[in-house]
This record gives sequence, structure tokens and C-alpha cells, in this order.
Amino acid sequence: MHFRRMPIEVESPEQMGYDSIRNNLSESSYTDTLLRDTGIDTGLYDLLLAYGSHAGHEGLRELIVKDTPLKKDDVLITIGAAGALFIIATSLLEKGDELVVVRPNYATNLETPRAIGATLKYIDLRFEEGFALDLHQIEKAITPGTKYISVTYPHNPTGVCLTDNELRQLIVLAESKGIRLLVDETYRDMVFREPLPLAVEYSPHVISVSSLSKTYGLPGIRVGWIICRDKELMETFLAAKEQIYICGPVLEEEIAYRYLQQKDRYLPLIRTDIRQKFDIVKSWMRQQESFEWVEPGGGAVCFPRIRQPERVDIGKFYDILLNKYGTYTGPGHWFDMPRHYMRIGYGWPPRASLEEGLQSLTKSLLEASR
Ligand SMILES: Cc1ncc(COP(=O)(O)O)c(C=O)c1O
Repeated sequence: MHFRRMPIEVESPEQMGYDSIRNNLSESSYTDTLLRDTGIDTGLYDLLLAYGSHAGHEGLRELIVKDTPLKKDDVLITIGAAGALFIIATSLLEKGDELVVVRPNYATNLETPRAIGATLKYIDLRFEEGFALDLHQIEKAITPGTKYISVTYPHNPTGVCLTDNELRQLIVLAESKGIRLLVDETYRDMVFREPLPLAVEYSPHVISVSSLSKTYGLPGIRVGWIICRDKELMETFLAAKEQIYICGPVLEEEIAYRYLQQKDRYLPLIRTDIRQKFDIVKSWMRQQESFEWVEPGGGAVCFPRIRQPERVDIGKFYDILLNKYGTYTGPGHWFDMPRHYMRIGYGWPPRASLEEGLQSLTKSLLEASR
């Protein structure tokens, strides 16, 4: 494998230093949670720091599939959704194999297959088409060398959501071709309407991935998971996990377990806060002539673009935005896209900072216009 660092990680706010940014509109998660505020710091001293279950904390796996027809044995705990995606790509792909993958995308969904030496057949989502999936294009891209189709729900960075009909059609397609469908559902709990069922409920051909990072603002505990009903494939994923790190960190998994026990208390509050922040972005967007967007259907990010990029010095725009106004967004190149697109994360910053950051975008664009 040939690894190279991804711009989204090199230029991430944690690598830059959170203190160097006043208005951080570059995150894709909800506001980071203080351990103290979860109310779960008691009793952890009694935890035995032995190797844990290789598949992951039993109670945690049960909670992840609670209220679904799935079983805990369908769940494998991983180090974040990122760890899950690495295990899946390295288990399913060898050099020269093909996958059909949506672009733009969360960088790892593209970069790990590239590191393996796989051939990526891109399904380019277009602004003009509302970033919607073209199922015919996906079908045409599949060849005998294709191992899986890779989509995200809701999509990162656009926040656009697959419909139930599209998901079902993708599954029928994957089943008819005898390949897998990877659905990265890391943002699923943040859809604005009722979320679709876990994709894996529909078929053993589906592999679902998610984590506690985004909706719950817990990216630092690095707890993610794979759900899949194909036992043989799950055995391969477990083998990969054991070779990388044997089992997950028992302390983190215990915290995740205790947090998820209280999910019903936290989730409605988080969803309400995200909706209110989204309304701030929406009303800002309504006043903009020089930015345009496809309105997202969920998640905590959107992916607007500058309407007439030829009239703007894009380098100067980002320079003014950060160095004059202390505001940081995710520029298009983080997602294999031109830099006049940008991801705005509205779930993470406090409201006042979100508002200030959005005003900074307006001002920076004006000041960088030719
Ligand atoms: C679509 C998607 N999948 C996976 C991840 C990885 O998240 P984590 O490893 O923190 O769970 C991210 C992070 O931004 C993401 O956007």
C-alpha cells in the first residue's frame, strides 16, 4: 500500500491548533462534548483494563442495534468510522480491483482504495443536479472487476440524503451484480426528517458504517462500528481488526456504552440545536447573491459555492477569511473539488460564532472580488 496524507487531515483545525481559529466552521460534527457533561465519570475506576472482547463491548453492540431486527453479532466495534472504512477497503479490495464511489466524498472513502492501488470509478455529483445520485451511471460503471459501491447517507460534504427508493434500488443493483453496497451512515442520526432504516436491515449485501463522532460530538473517544449480516465477511473484518489492534480500548468502549444508554435523553436536544443552527445558515443564505447552495436534508454540513468564481481571487478570499476574520471552512480541495466550493459546518460552533463566521464569509468575498 502507498499512503499519503490527505489535505483534510493536514489542514484540519486540530492540526492547526483550535486556538488559532475564532469561528470554526470547518467541522462536520456536533459540538464536542465534555466528559463531565455526560455525567458518566463515576465507577470507571472499577474497570478492569484487560484486553476486551475482540468484536467489541457486548452491551455497546447490543445498544447500537437496539430497536432494529439486527443482532449484536452483526456489529463489530472499530476505531471510529475511519477504522471501519479502512478495514472494509483492505478486506474487499486488492490492487487492480474496482469500486464505484461517489465524489465528492469524505476523503478516506477515496484515499484508502487509492492507497491499495484499486481502480476508482467515480460517480460525480453535480451542483446543477442537486448533488443527486445517478443510478444509471452507477449501473454503467459496474464491471466484473467491481467489488463494491460506496455511498454516504447523509452525504458528506453536501448533506444531501438518499431516498428510500434510491437506497432500495442500489441494493437491488448490488444484489443482482453479486457485489457489496457500503453505506457510510456516519451522519444518519442527524437527518432532518425520520431517518431511513439502517441500510443493512435490507440485505446481507450491505455493509453499514457509523460512529459516535458526529451526532454526539464524541470524536475523541474514537468509537465506530461496522454492521453486516454476512457472517463470513464479518469474520474477515474481525481478522483484519485483530491484526491491526486486537481489540478496541476498553475504557473508550465503556464510556460509549454508558453514553448510549442515555441516547434518548441527549439526541432530541442535539437535533433541536442543529435545526436552530441550520435555520441561521438558511436565513444567511437567503440574503446572499454571491453564494449559492443545494439545501441539505440532514447532517451538520452544507456545501455552497461562490456563484461567479472568475470574479474572485479565491486564494485571497480564504486568506482574508482566516487571517482577518479568524474564520475557517473546509475548502473544496479537501473533497477533490474546486476551491470555490466550501464545506460549512454549522453544527459545531456556538450560535454567536456561527453567525459571526457567516458574516465573515460575506465580507471576505466582497473584499476578494476583482
Ligand atoms: C462520511 C464520514 N465517514 C467517516 C468519518 C470518520 O469519522 P470517525 O472516524 O471520527 O468516526 C467521517 C469524518 O469526517 C465522515 O465524514
